[in-house]
Amino acid sequence: MTSVINTERLALRPWEDSDVDFVYDLYSRWVVQRFIGTEPAVMESRAEAEERVRRFQDLDHPVHGIWAVTRKEDGLPVGTLLLKPIPASGEEPLQPSDDVEIGWHFHPDHWGNGFAAEAAAAVLEHAFASGIEQVVAVTNPANEASQSVCRRIGMEHLGQSKKYYNAKCELFLVKNPSLEP
Ligand SMILES: CC(C)(COP(=O)(O)OP(=O)(O)OC[C@H]1O[C@@H](n2cnc3c(N)ncnc32)[C@H](O)[C@@H]1OP(=O)(O)O)[C@@H](O)C(=O)NCCC(=O)NCCS
Repeated sequence: MTSVINTERLALRPWEDSDVDFVYDLYSRWVVQRFIGTEPAVMESRAEAEERVRRFQDLDHPVHGIWAVTRKEDGLPVGTLLLKPIPASGEEPLQPSDDVEIGWHFHPDHWGNGFAAEAAAAVLEHAFASGIEQVVAVTNPANEASQSVCRRIGMEHLGQSKKYYNAKCELFLVKNPSLEP
């Protein structure tokens, strides 16, 4: 069960069936999808959005999660925050590696407010409080906004890597400070 995580301005909660319209609006936009996956494509039907919400709800893990990020003041969904095993490069279908990744997809109406960094910092804190040793993030080399979020939450840039997703990505890493010698 995905736990609820609160920050100053945001509440991260499990996805609800009523979030389908938001998910469709979010993932049908090219500005959101353009740097996601090796062959970026926008969502084209509401049925796909229903399926996506089901997949988000299916991740049932005590620490990992895929959260709906909502604004506390009015409950409005603003984005997605993910903490889950990252797929290793290799033969398709890609299999999850032992490494845990953090990721974010926010609606463009809400960019520039620091919401992604605020939500991601809280999920990192949750991951480390739960004993996860380290967390990685990968971005398309052209995705400077996402790289800024990585840096803002204290991740170190390790350069480019082809280790994950069968793609050349910028790789970021942060280790659990409470496990550092
Ligand atoms: C990546 C993504 C989430 C970044 O969104 P973002 O709005 O730039 O990131 P944040 O929400 O952290 O906001 C950062 C901006 O808010 C500002 N900000 C930070 N804290 C703030 C606060 N408390 N109040 C107001 N503004 C604040 C910062 O100045 C920053 O602006 P800057 O980058 O010009 O310095 C967004 O571009 C996105 O969803 N893209 C599409 C999906 C995607 O590519 N995901 C990543 C795949 S790897």
